[in-house]
Amino acid sequence: MEWLTSLVDCFTIGDPVSKPPTGKQVCSNDNTSFTIKIKASNYSQGRIVEEDTINEGIKVKVECRKMWSTKCERLSLFQNRLIILIVIAFIIMHLMFYLTDEKLKTPERKSWEKVQYDKKFVLVTGGAGFVGHHVIMRLKQDNINVIGTDNFNDYYNVSLKYLRSNISGVVQHVDVCDLKKMTEIIATKKITHVIHLAAQAGVRYSLTNPQAYVKSNVECFVQLLETLKNTGIPLIYASSSSVYGKNTNIPFSEDHPVVQPASLYAATKRENELLAHVYWNLYKQRSVGLRFFTVYGPLGRPDMAYFSFAKNIFKGLPIPVFNFGKLSRDFTYIDDIVNGIIKCIDVKYDYEILNLGRGEPQSLMQFIKTIEDIAGKKAVLDFKEMVKGDVLVTYADVSKAKASIGYSPNVSLKDGLTRFISWYKLYSNQPK
Ligand SMILES: NC(=O)c1ccc[n+]([C@@H]2O[C@H](COP(=O)([O-])OP(=O)(O)OC[C@H]3O[C@@H](n4cnc5c(N)ncnc54)[C@H](O)[C@@H]3O)[C@@H](O)[C@H]2O)c1
Repeated sequence: MEWLTSLVDCFTIGDPVSKPPTGKQVCSNDNTSFTIKIKASNYSQGRIVEEDTINEGIKVKVECRKMWSTKCERLSLFQNRLIILIVIAFIIMHLMFYLTDEKLKTPERKSWEKVQYDKKFVLVTGGAGFVGHHVIMRLKQDNINVIGTDNFNDYYNVSLKYLRSNISGVVQHVDVCDLKKMTEIIATKKITHVIHLAAQAGVRYSLTNPQAYVKSNVECFVQLLETLKNTGIPLIYASSSSVYGKNTNIPFSEDHPVVQPASLYAATKRENELLAHVYWNLYKQRSVGLRFFTVYGPLGRPDMAYFSFAKNIFKGLPIPVFNFGKLSRDFTYIDDIVNGIIKCIDVKYDYEILNLGRGEPQSLMQFIKTIEDIAGKKAVLDFKEMVKGDVLVTYADVSKAKASIGYSPNVSLKDGLTRFISWYKLYSNQPK
């Protein structure tokens, strides 16, 4: 702190100081002149708070209080306000830059916003398959233009595939790997959405026929992405709960790491999700991968347990009960799955993954008992070891699908199996 030396009036502690002390002053009470030191800063108003005799005078400390009384001080006020304004402007500019920068980092990332389409024309691959058929029927019911494609392979009874395609009447014999034909359909029909359900399904078959999975699920998936890239057509595709593999953290959430597939089928389904991400990254190809959890229902797949169990129970044949019944599955009725798929048509996304399950796993033994109750017949149980590549439990966390697309599975296992068994009775009595 700087001290000024000046001669002023004779001050005593407590005296006010209202102007800068200048010139030689004589103390009024004893006519003695003093040299005093006054704390430099602001002399507008203050009080003497301390004094001390030095050489020939008194050292005086003045405690000053700002009054903004001088021209110079008014300028300081203006300057201060200017500085505050500049700081506020800087903060606002910084915030604006940050927000703009965020937008640049994630362009178009507005998943699940509703989208209005003037006209929709949906292409469903695997249209003669179980899920594909039900999706086509629902689109037709909703008066949405739809075309299906399928290669009608003989993984299971082809007559069932023809039965489905005869019912819908819109499925063409086209392989997804056929880039030329797929491109032609997309262009001539002015397709607005692709729902890709064609695949080599089934965990157990992948133990003996891995090439069929690599061909249909990986090679054809890349062909489809090649067909779609740069068209702006969004892709809705089937993934599977099997991607969770050896994950023991239940319920299975889309946030869980999926790095331990238990079967080749599961690995190809995970590959789909990774490839979809690559095409988003490179070409901004929008996609949503739907992880289905054990879908069942009328016109279902004969290779799946619920179908073969019903068949064998009615025929009085033994049913294989793997891992001695110590398995559970999140069985999901076909209509709930179809609702989830359809809800993805009218929303926006860039690259997304959703679980579509029931969110209520059932033990295998409970599942068998429910079929027995509905069928009114006891099953002959043939307990077996766990099959390689199978997993102990599947259990969907569907909170993301609920929040994003309003997915709401509402068909109980008992109701769903009752509908399936009613259909199965009619189907099995038909001449083949
Ligand atoms: N059903 C389930 O429980 C379940 C569970 C998880 C995931 N998925 C997946 O859902 C999708 C539909 O399953 P689904 O149960 O309807 O099976 P599905 O076998 O009944 O249907 C698949 C259809 O795709 C056809 N297909 C196979 N490869 C093809 C190709 N290269 N070109 C054209 N068509 C081809 C088949 O002929 C079949 O009709 C599949 O991707 C499957 O992996 C199903």
